Amino acid sequence: MTPRHSDRVQRSFSRSFDSYHGAADQQVWVAEHLVAALRDAEAPGYFARAFEFGCGTGHLTRALMESITFDRLTLNDLMPEARATAEAHGAEFLPGDAEALTWPTPLDLVVSASTIQWLENPERILRKAATQLAPGGWLAVSGFGPDQYRELSRLGSKARAPGLCTPEALAKAVSGALDVVATGEVLRQQLFPTPLDVLRHLRHTGVNARAQGAWSKSRLARFIADYDRAFGTEDGVSLTYHPVWIVAHKPA
Ligand SMILES: C[S@@+](CC[C@H](N)C(=O)[O-])C[C@H]1O[C@@H](n2cnc3c(N)ncnc32)[C@H](O)[C@@H]1O
Repeated sequence: MTPRHSDRVQRSFSRSFDSYHGAADQQVWVAEHLVAALRDAEAPGYFARAFEFGCGTGHLTRALMESITFDRLTLNDLMPEARATAEAHGAEFLPGDAEALTWPTPLDLVVSASTIQWLENPERILRKAATQLAPGGWLAVSGFGPDQYRELSRLGSKARAPGLCTPEALAKAVSGALDVVATGEVLRQQLFPTPLDVLRHLRHTGVNARAQGAWSKSRLARFIADYDRAFGTEDGVSLTYHPVWIVAHKPA
Protein backbone atom coordinates (compact mmCIF):
# COMPACT_ATOMS: atom_id res chain seq x y z
CA MET A 1 0.00 0.00 0.00
CA THR A 2 1.44 3.42 -0.94
CA PRO A 3 1.63 5.95 1.92
CA ARG A 4 -0.80 8.29 0.15
CA HIS A 5 -3.39 5.55 -0.29
CA SER A 6 -3.19 4.39 3.34
CA ASP A 7 -3.40 8.03 4.57
CA ARG A 8 -6.55 8.54 2.50
CA VAL A 9 -8.15 5.32 3.76
CA GLN A 10 -7.27 6.23 7.35
CA ARG A 11 -8.73 9.74 7.05
CA SER A 12 -11.90 8.41 5.48
CA PHE A 13 -12.50 5.83 8.22
CA SER A 14 -11.54 8.27 10.99
CA ARG A 15 -14.14 10.72 9.64
CA SER A 16 -16.87 8.11 9.81
CA PHE A 17 -15.73 6.40 13.06
CA ASP A 18 -18.82 7.55 14.99
CA SER A 19 -21.37 6.76 12.27
CA TYR A 20 -19.81 3.51 11.02
CA HIS A 21 -20.83 1.18 13.84
CA GLY A 22 -24.60 1.72 13.53
CA ALA A 23 -24.64 1.94 9.72
CA ALA A 24 -22.61 -1.15 8.90
CA ASP A 25 -25.37 -3.81 8.80
CA GLN A 26 -23.64 -5.77 6.04
CA GLN A 27 -20.32 -5.79 7.89
CA VAL A 28 -22.12 -7.10 11.00
CA TRP A 29 -23.51 -9.97 8.92
CA VAL A 30 -20.06 -10.64 7.44
CA ALA A 31 -18.36 -10.67 10.87
CA GLU A 32 -20.89 -13.08 12.35
CA HIS A 33 -20.78 -15.26 9.26
CA LEU A 34 -16.97 -15.43 9.34
CA VAL A 35 -16.94 -16.57 12.96
CA ALA A 36 -19.62 -19.18 12.16
CA ALA A 37 -17.49 -20.41 9.21
CA LEU A 38 -14.48 -20.74 11.54
CA ARG A 39 -16.53 -22.73 14.07
CA ASP A 40 -18.09 -24.87 11.30
CA ALA A 41 -14.54 -25.71 10.19
CA GLU A 42 -14.05 -27.19 13.68
CA ALA A 43 -11.47 -24.66 14.75
CA PRO A 44 -10.86 -24.68 18.50
CA GLY A 45 -12.87 -22.50 20.87
CA TYR A 46 -9.66 -21.30 22.55
CA PHE A 47 -6.50 -19.71 21.07
CA ALA A 48 -3.41 -18.73 23.04
CA ARG A 49 -2.36 -15.83 20.78
CA ALA A 50 -4.56 -14.13 18.18
CA PHE A 51 -4.23 -11.12 15.88
CA GLU A 52 -7.00 -9.18 14.14
CA PHE A 53 -6.09 -6.56 11.54
CA GLY A 54 -8.48 -3.76 10.55
CA CYS A 55 -10.57 -4.11 13.75
CA GLY A 56 -12.36 -0.75 13.24
CA THR A 57 -15.23 -0.33 15.70
CA GLY A 58 -15.13 -4.03 16.55
CA HIS A 59 -17.93 -5.90 14.80
CA LEU A 60 -15.66 -8.91 14.22
CA THR A 61 -13.99 -8.57 17.64
CA ARG A 62 -17.37 -8.73 19.36
CA ALA A 63 -18.52 -11.74 17.31
CA LEU A 64 -15.23 -13.54 18.02
CA MET A 65 -15.34 -12.92 21.73
CA GLU A 66 -18.88 -14.26 21.96
CA SER A 67 -17.75 -17.77 21.07
CA ILE A 68 -13.94 -17.95 21.34
CA THR A 69 -11.54 -17.31 24.23
CA PHE A 70 -7.96 -16.04 24.02
CA ASP A 71 -4.95 -15.69 26.29
CA ARG A 72 -3.75 -12.68 24.29
CA LEU A 73 -5.62 -10.88 21.56
CA THR A 74 -3.94 -8.06 19.63
CA LEU A 75 -6.10 -5.72 17.55
CA ASN A 76 -4.73 -3.56 14.76
CA ASP A 77 -6.13 -0.68 12.73
CA LEU A 78 -4.87 2.24 10.68
CA MET A 79 -7.16 4.55 12.68
CA PRO A 80 -5.78 5.60 16.06
CA GLU A 81 -9.44 5.89 17.24
CA ALA A 82 -9.69 2.07 17.11
CA ARG A 83 -7.67 1.91 20.35
CA ALA A 84 -11.08 2.33 22.04
CA THR A 85 -12.18 -0.98 20.47
CA ALA A 86 -9.17 -2.75 22.00
CA GLU A 87 -9.76 -1.15 25.39
CA ALA A 88 -13.44 -2.14 25.34
CA HIS A 89 -12.49 -5.78 24.70
CA GLY A 90 -9.49 -6.04 27.04
CA ALA A 91 -7.17 -6.51 24.04
CA GLU A 92 -3.79 -5.01 23.09
CA PHE A 93 -3.73 -2.39 20.34
CA LEU A 94 -1.17 -2.15 17.55
CA PRO A 95 -1.84 0.97 15.42
CA GLY A 96 -0.74 1.39 11.80
CA ASP A 97 -0.72 -0.20 8.37
CA ALA A 98 -1.07 -3.97 8.88
CA GLU A 99 0.92 -4.59 5.72
CA ALA A 100 3.97 -2.68 6.94
CA LEU A 101 3.87 -3.52 10.69
CA THR A 102 5.73 -6.30 12.45
CA TRP A 103 3.02 -8.56 13.88
CA PRO A 104 3.27 -10.28 17.27
CA THR A 105 4.50 -13.88 16.95
CA PRO A 106 3.90 -16.75 17.25
CA LEU A 107 0.20 -16.56 16.29
CA ASP A 108 -2.44 -19.28 16.56
CA LEU A 109 -5.20 -17.29 14.86
CA VAL A 110 -5.20 -14.45 12.31
CA VAL A 111 -8.57 -12.89 11.53
CA SER A 112 -9.90 -9.90 9.65
CA ALA A 113 -13.29 -8.82 8.30
CA SER A 114 -14.19 -6.27 5.62
CA THR A 115 -10.66 -4.80 5.44
CA ILE A 116 -8.52 -6.52 2.77
CA GLN A 117 -10.44 -4.80 -0.05
CA TRP A 118 -8.64 -1.60 1.02
CA LEU A 119 -5.23 -3.11 0.34
CA GLU A 120 -3.69 -2.73 -3.11
CA ASN A 121 -2.68 -6.39 -2.93
CA PRO A 122 -4.85 -8.49 -0.56
CA GLU A 123 -2.99 -11.69 -1.52
CA ARG A 124 0.22 -10.27 -0.02
CA ILE A 125 -1.27 -9.89 3.48
CA LEU A 126 -2.70 -13.41 3.31
CA ARG A 127 0.77 -14.72 2.50
CA LYS A 128 2.15 -12.70 5.41
CA ALA A 129 -0.53 -14.23 7.70
CA ALA A 130 0.37 -17.73 6.47
CA THR A 131 4.03 -17.10 7.35
CA GLN A 132 3.27 -15.64 10.78
CA LEU A 133 0.96 -18.47 11.87
CA ALA A 134 2.45 -21.16 14.09
CA PRO A 135 2.03 -24.79 12.95
CA GLY A 136 -1.57 -25.80 13.72
CA GLY A 137 -2.72 -22.15 13.47
CA TRP A 138 -5.90 -20.88 11.81
CA LEU A 139 -6.77 -18.09 9.37
CA ALA A 140 -10.26 -16.59 8.86
CA VAL A 141 -10.45 -13.54 6.59
CA SER A 142 -13.24 -11.86 4.66
CA GLY A 143 -13.21 -9.15 2.02
CA PHE A 144 -15.39 -8.13 -0.90
CA GLY A 145 -15.56 -9.45 -4.44
CA PRO A 146 -15.65 -7.82 -7.89
CA ASP A 147 -19.45 -7.31 -7.77
CA GLN A 148 -19.23 -5.09 -4.69
CA TYR A 149 -21.37 -1.96 -5.33
CA ARG A 150 -21.86 -3.08 -8.92
CA GLU A 151 -24.58 -0.42 -9.31
CA LEU A 152 -21.94 2.30 -8.87
CA SER A 153 -19.55 0.68 -11.35
CA ARG A 154 -22.36 0.35 -13.90
CA LEU A 155 -23.02 4.07 -13.59
CA GLY A 156 -19.36 4.73 -14.38
CA SER A 157 -18.01 5.31 -10.85
CA LYS A 158 -14.26 4.77 -10.55
CA ALA A 159 -14.41 4.83 -6.73
CA ARG A 160 -13.89 1.08 -6.33
CA ALA A 161 -11.84 -0.28 -3.47
CA PRO A 162 -8.52 -1.44 -4.95
CA GLY A 163 -8.48 -4.99 -3.57
CA LEU A 164 -11.79 -6.56 -4.58
CA CYS A 165 -11.00 -10.23 -5.15
CA THR A 166 -12.55 -13.64 -5.69
CA PRO A 167 -12.55 -16.52 -3.16
CA GLU A 168 -10.33 -18.41 -5.64
CA ALA A 169 -7.72 -15.64 -5.43
CA LEU A 170 -7.80 -15.84 -1.61
CA ALA A 171 -7.29 -19.62 -1.74
CA LYS A 172 -4.50 -19.31 -4.32
CA ALA A 173 -2.64 -16.79 -2.15
CA VAL A 174 -2.19 -19.31 0.69
CA SER A 175 -1.90 -22.48 -1.34
CA GLY A 176 1.18 -24.51 -0.45
CA ALA A 177 1.40 -22.86 2.99
CA LEU A 178 -2.09 -23.51 4.44
CA ASP A 179 -4.83 -26.10 3.94
CA VAL A 180 -7.92 -24.27 2.73
CA VAL A 181 -10.87 -25.55 4.75
CA ALA A 182 -13.61 -23.31 3.34
CA THR A 183 -14.12 -20.44 0.93
CA GLY A 184 -17.35 -18.72 0.04
CA GLU A 185 -19.10 -15.76 -1.52
CA VAL A 186 -22.60 -14.34 -1.63
CA LEU A 187 -24.40 -11.42 -3.26
CA ARG A 188 -26.50 -9.44 -0.77
CA GLN A 189 -28.75 -6.64 -1.96
CA GLN A 190 -29.63 -3.84 0.41
CA LEU A 191 -32.55 -1.51 -0.40
CA PHE A 192 -32.61 2.24 0.27
CA PRO A 193 -35.50 4.70 -0.11
CA THR A 194 -33.60 6.91 -2.61
CA PRO A 195 -30.17 7.19 -4.32
CA LEU A 196 -29.35 10.00 -1.87
CA ASP A 197 -29.76 7.48 0.95
CA VAL A 198 -27.27 5.23 -0.86
CA LEU A 199 -24.73 8.09 -0.90
CA ARG A 200 -25.39 8.83 2.78
CA HIS A 201 -24.89 5.13 3.61
CA LEU A 202 -21.57 5.09 1.73
CA ARG A 203 -20.42 8.18 3.61
CA HIS A 204 -21.42 6.75 7.00
CA THR A 205 -19.63 3.48 6.43
CA GLY A 206 -16.41 5.23 5.38
CA VAL A 207 -16.27 3.63 1.97
CA ASN A 208 -15.89 6.87 0.04
CA ALA A 209 -12.11 6.84 0.47
CA ARG A 210 -11.61 6.75 -3.27
CA ALA A 211 -14.40 9.11 -4.33
CA GLN A 212 -12.97 11.79 -6.57
CA GLY A 213 -13.67 15.40 -5.65
CA ALA A 214 -16.89 17.22 -4.79
CA TRP A 215 -20.00 16.77 -6.91
CA SER A 216 -21.67 19.65 -8.74
CA LYS A 217 -25.46 20.04 -8.47
CA SER A 218 -25.95 18.85 -12.03
CA ARG A 219 -23.73 15.79 -11.54
CA LEU A 220 -25.71 14.86 -8.41
CA ALA A 221 -29.05 15.30 -10.22
CA ARG A 222 -27.82 13.09 -13.08
CA PHE A 223 -26.59 10.44 -10.65
CA ILE A 224 -29.98 10.36 -8.86
CA ALA A 225 -31.95 10.09 -12.10
CA ASP A 226 -29.66 7.40 -13.58
CA TYR A 227 -29.63 5.38 -10.35
CA ASP A 228 -33.42 5.51 -10.02
CA ARG A 229 -33.90 4.47 -13.63
CA ALA A 230 -31.42 1.58 -13.52
CA PHE A 231 -31.88 0.21 -9.99
CA GLY A 232 -35.29 1.38 -8.77
CA THR A 233 -37.72 -1.25 -7.46
CA GLU A 234 -41.13 -0.94 -5.80
CA ASP A 235 -39.37 -1.06 -2.44
CA GLY A 236 -36.55 1.38 -3.11
CA VAL A 237 -33.18 1.36 -4.91
CA SER A 238 -30.71 -1.48 -4.54
CA LEU A 239 -27.04 -1.56 -3.56
CA THR A 240 -25.17 -4.87 -3.88
CA TYR A 241 -22.64 -6.21 -1.40
CA HIS A 242 -20.39 -9.09 -2.44
CA PRO A 243 -18.75 -10.64 0.64
CA VAL A 244 -16.03 -13.26 0.05
CA TRP A 245 -14.17 -15.26 2.70
CA ILE A 246 -11.61 -17.94 3.44
CA VAL A 247 -10.93 -20.23 6.40
CA ALA A 248 -7.61 -22.08 6.33
CA HIS A 249 -5.43 -24.14 8.65
CA LYS A 250 -1.65 -24.50 8.89
CA PRO A 251 -0.57 -28.13 9.10
CA ALA A 252 0.86 -29.00 12.53
C1 LIG B 1 -14.95 -1.59 6.78
S1 LIG B 1 -13.97 -1.42 8.23
C2 LIG B 1 -14.16 -3.03 8.99
C3 LIG B 1 -13.97 -2.96 10.47
C4 LIG B 1 -14.26 -4.26 11.25
N1 LIG B 1 -13.30 -5.31 10.92
C5 LIG B 1 -15.66 -4.76 11.03
O1 LIG B 1 -15.81 -5.95 10.80
O2 LIG B 1 -16.61 -3.97 11.12
C6 LIG B 1 -12.31 -1.51 7.58
C7 LIG B 1 -11.25 -1.12 8.60
O3 LIG B 1 -9.97 -1.44 8.04
C8 LIG B 1 -9.05 -0.43 8.42
N2 LIG B 1 -7.92 -0.52 7.48
C9 LIG B 1 -7.92 -0.23 6.15
N3 LIG B 1 -6.68 -0.45 5.64
C10 LIG B 1 -5.90 -0.89 6.66
C11 LIG B 1 -4.52 -1.27 6.77
N4 LIG B 1 -3.69 -1.23 5.72
N5 LIG B 1 -4.05 -1.66 7.98
C12 LIG B 1 -4.86 -1.69 9.08
N6 LIG B 1 -6.18 -1.33 9.03
C13 LIG B 1 -6.69 -0.94 7.84
C14 LIG B 1 -9.87 0.85 8.37
O4 LIG B 1 -9.29 1.89 9.14
C15 LIG B 1 -11.22 0.37 8.94
O5 LIG B 1 -11.29 0.52 10.33
